[in-house]
Amino acid sequence: MSSSNFSAVAGLSVERIQVPKDPDAIMATDFRAFHDLDVAHHLDLWGNLDRCSTLAEAVLFWQGNEYEERHVFLARLDGSVVGSGTLTLPLSENTTTAGVDVRVDAAYRRRGIGTKILEVLEQQARGRNRVSFDAFCSEPLGLLIQGSELLEAKSGAGGVPLDSASTRFALHHGYSLEQVETNSTLAVPVGEALLQELEAQATQRAAGYGVIGWRNHCPDDLVEAFAKLKSLMSTEVPIAGLGWEGEEWDATRVRHEESTWLAGGVSSSVAVARHDSTGELAAYTTLTHREATPGMVYQEDTLVAPRHRGHRLGMLVKIANLRRIQELWPAATSVMTWNANENQHMLAINIALGFKPSGFDGEWQKRLE
Ligand SMILES: CC(C)(COP(=O)(O)OP(=O)(O)OC[C@H]1O[C@@H](n2cnc3c(N)ncnc32)[C@H](O)[C@@H]1OP(=O)(O)O)[C@@H](O)C(=O)NCCC(=O)NCCS
Repeated sequence: MSSSNFSAVAGLSVERIQVPKDPDAIMATDFRAFHDLDVAHHLDLWGNLDRCSTLAEAVLFWQGNEYEERHVFLARLDGSVVGSGTLTLPLSENTTTAGVDVRVDAAYRRRGIGTKILEVLEQQARGRNRVSFDAFCSEPLGLLIQGSELLEAKSGAGGVPLDSASTRFALHHGYSLEQVETNSTLAVPVGEALLQELEAQATQRAAGYGVIGWRNHCPDDLVEAFAKLKSLMSTEVPIAGLGWEGEEWDATRVRHEESTWLAGGVSSSVAVARHDSTGELAAYTTLTHREATPGMVYQEDTLVAPRHRGHRLGMLVKIANLRRIQELWPAATSVMTWNANENQHMLAINIALGFKPSGFDGEWQKRLE
């Protein structure tokens, strides 16, 4: 593929690799090496694969789509794989931004390999007129509670350990820490007594709304309204100073997400609150589950439309969806979620439900002036 690049580190190459179109061709490809590195990284950092994409999901994701182009790079030292890089280029909105990510095999760090990979990613991004680069870095809570000195996020809510490799690397390359997210985990099933108590409190404030739901496929008569609600998810949530534009969702984009999930072995459950008198969709929450990791459920988006806030709809839709887990995915034992540290309303709901912090996510940005 294009972008072969030989660097100042003797024997190092960083090259874009092909993402297989046919899932059966995965085993022997470079993509398999990329995924193996991802698996090793998760095992090293977390001791489990709870946060790691499955191979099937990764292949589909990295193929990209009409909304985002996605490129995968492998770094080889004298022919052996020692690192990887990824580049995402939004195509519908945020078209002057790029997402970058760098991984270096633990045995090959501090030799300038990460720097070289990042240089290649940024060079490619600049070639596509991108002037703002975003990077996310997830790490376990253990790194924070060792009493390490913190680098405060610009959002003013939380920080990341100043001395970790990812922080030093990001700062060294001119990135600033815009926002920190908390990664939390909930053991399921949640006790029915707690759910009933929280539901009773929420229902008192939610007169005039009903909760409905679906699995994998939004009913045709709701899909346009659901798409409108999903558009709000990119603007009506705290994004600190990241400056992202809103995403435009329509029925086609909703169907695209649903079919990609199913093709990648991901099933989903959505609960929405509907305003009885207008029929408007006021709130939604989505859970996803992978057959390959049967114990884990991911909490995806949760949003209450601004004009319907203050009615405890966030809590109501979450309770409805949590109740469906046992019936839909009986092997599930945990739900995992990520929330911006300044998103106090969402965090309060999660804390009430019993979520406990397990990690944090630094959201970095570099803008070319
Ligand atoms: C972060 C990571 C990509 C760095 O890769 P690397 O090849 O070791 O980085 P480099 O050798 O190019 O380091 C460049 C500079 O970053 C800083 N740096 C990198 N690792 C560091 C560490 N462990 N401690 C202190 N500074 C560090 C230094 O300033 C270094 O320059 P120097 O060696 O001349 O002092 C690597 O540690 C890694 O893969 N970590 C896990 C994944 C990750 O966190 N990715 C970043 C996502 S935001």
